[in-house]
Amino acid sequence: MRLDRFLSEQTALSRKDAQTAIRKGSVTVDGIVVKKPDHTVFPEKNEISLAGKPLVFAEHHYFLLHKPEGVITATEDAKQKTVLDLLSADDRLPKLAPCGRLDIDTTGLLLITDDGQLSHRMLSPKHHVMKYYLAKLSEPLSADTKPRFADGIAIREGAGEVICQPAECEEIAPCLAVVGIHEGRYHQVKRMFAAVGNHVEKLLRFQIGNVPLPPDLPLGAYFVISDKEAGEMLMNPAFSSICAFCKENYSSYWINNQA
Ligand code: URA
Repeated sequence: MRLDRFLSEQTALSRKDAQTAIRKGSVTVDGIVVKKPDHTVFPEKNEISLAGKPLVFAEHHYFLLHKPEGVITATEDAKQKTVLDLLSADDRLPKLAPCGRLDIDTTGLLLITDDGQLSHRMLSPKHHVMKYYLAKLSEPLSADTKPRFADGIAIREGAGEVICQPAECEEIAPCLAVVGIHEGRYHQVKRMFAAVGNHVEKLLRFQIGNVPLPPDLPLGAYFVISDKEAGEMLMNPAFSSICAFCKENYSSYWINNQA
């Protein structure tokens, strides 16, 4: 691989800026300054440094963000702040995109990655990757909510209706319900509760597959995970353990975070 390509893929530098940095002598390969942008490197074997800082090669990058309210799930926007704006300049690598979408007023766990294959598997309903939400409701859960969600509830779509895939639901405190879905329709959780005559006042995504939102991660903060850890998102734990985890860690979420 060309050295300038390696740099532009592993850092936030554009290809042009990578070439400038190389020509200026800021890049070493195995301790030797290399000034030719087209110099061939073997990322798995060579130790490449930029301004004295070794670059750790990774084929793909994974960031887990605690999305706050008021930020849109997009890569760029002329008017509104996007989830990518929450990454530091050094972490804004090319090809990063949010995996799936949370509404502007939804908070919680969001994966930002350049791994298109993993994103596809996580989002395709065919792969049944569960996303778990805590919903603050305006009314207590009605007796028919759980069975109707489990059967596949009809929600309004345009002038008609669509039937959702079966979903799990449990009330863990009055007006607080955990919901597990493996689709990602627009406003899906909100529309599912609307279909049973309830209303979602606040929504938090606290887990994807086997990967929870760390309870101590502040709103707007993020951290890097490995490809192996990201793969855990494709595993589905038992719903009872999800509810117990949520009850223990997130039942006071809106009190603590004022989100
Ligand atoms: N369902 C919703 O209604 N909103 C979200 O942000 C995610 C799921």
